[in-house]
Amino acid sequence: MNIVFIGFMATGKTSIAKEVAKMLRKRYMSTDEMIVEKCRKSIPRIFEEYGELFFRKIEKEVVNEVSKMDGVVIDCGGGVVLDKCNVKALKENGIIFLLQATPETIYQRSLKDKGTRPLLGPNYSIKHVEELLSKRIPYYLEAADYIIDTTGKSVEEVVNRVIEILGDKIEGFDREGRS
Ligand code: S3P
Repeated sequence: MNIVFIGFMATGKTSIAKEVAKMLRKRYMSTDEMIVEKCRKSIPRIFEEYGELFFRKIEKEVVNEVSKMDGVVIDCGGGVVLDKCNVKALKENGIIFLLQATPETIYQRSLKDKGTRPLLGPNYSIKHVEELLSKRIPYYLEAADYIIDTTGKSVEEVVNRVIEILGDKIEGFDREGRS
């Protein structure tokens, strides 16, 4: 069984997934990192040189690959849910956590790593985040098994909630990840 994190950009997927993996002594996998490794280029460069459609094609390949693994923690790029086949593959052997945050929080967090997210462009506003988020929400909700709001919460608080949910769902599961 894999533990999968989905959600809009800057909702905390990477920090949470890394910490959950560390606590449960499981392998952390990131679809974005897998794409970068495969293409040997950064994500902004892939978008710039080959376009979004190419990026989505490679993303689908890596989602397929990672979904076949077992017992890993998967940090999904924000657009993974746009393709139903991706969601189906992830669900086959995974429990899906949707991380949410308010547009304001997303905007503030994403300003810190400006330039790494081509879909937000160089001069984006909260309105831009709101527009893209409202288009994406139905996809996120459809894919999610559990929803956690990360607004105003520390990494530790969110991680504890994830582990609590896993504990309720998986019989015999404990914080050390033994099940
Ligand atoms: C994307 C999110 C990014 C990355 C790419 C596209 C999206 O990942 O995959 O820039 O479509 O939402 P993060 O959600 O990790 O920022």
